[in-house]
Amino acid sequence: MRQLIAGNWKMNGLGADSVALARAIAAGATGITADLLVCPAALHLSGVVQAIRGSVVAIGGQDCHQDQQGAHTGDISAPMLRDAGAAWVILGHSERRQNHGETDELVREKTLAAVAAGLTPIVCVGETNDQRSGGQETEAVGWQIAGSLPKPFIGVIAYEPIWAIGTGRTATEDDVLDMHSFIREELIRQFGDAGHGIRILYGGSVKPNNAAGLLAVPNVGGALVGGASLNAEDFLAIARAAIAESGQGG
Ligand code: PGA
Repeated sequence: MRQLIAGNWKMNGLGADSVALARAIAAGATGITADLLVCPAALHLSGVVQAIRGSVVAIGGQDCHQDQQGAHTGDISAPMLRDAGAAWVILGHSERRQNHGETDELVREKTLAAVAAGLTPIVCVGETNDQRSGGQETEAVGWQIAGSLPKPFIGVIAYEPIWAIGTGRTATEDDVLDMHSFIREELIRQFGDAGHGIRILYGGSVKPNNAAGLLAVPNVGGALVGGASLNAEDFLAIARAAIAESGQGG
């Protein structure tokens, strides 16, 4: 399966910045063997859709509400994202879990809403610094997987250790190997054979200089990139480091 390199632009840039970034990524995307995805702020989706038209780059949202519609001031539904041209959505990012109190149960409901609207969810999991220093990292991620994924699960997982997000501190390749093997085993335990085919992305300070090593680790199906995805050259350099065909689900 091809690796997926996804850019999470978070709450950065104005409309013109997002369009320029999308254009630069689309222009450099030819010949890249990974699947490419950019996730701009929801307000910028339509401009980015125009900017990448005709390219191989796909578009996603950064969150959606668990209901398809209704009285939810300020929220955005999965059908609205789909209607605006998104095919993917990031769910349960640690910044949503921490800053908006999102629970595993809510992330599971949002995942169901996304799939019902025809979006492919990228469900994020990852332990805190304290959980890792206390040796509870697999337990924490195991609980998140059990609680956040509906059955059946049609989508992608992103393992993002919270201590590595936006900190410049990356998990070592050994950390990633251990956690991705654990997640693969959990997915197979929960979903049987289908668990082999689910892509598991790594996220947390992925940069051009560490991407090749991280993307070569077994069971890594791609990367979810924050800071480095705001620079087209860096994002494309990470995408060029992707492995052309990885094994089961990556
Ligand atoms: P980072 O963010 O690459 O800036 O660490 C990753 C993410 O939050 O998805």
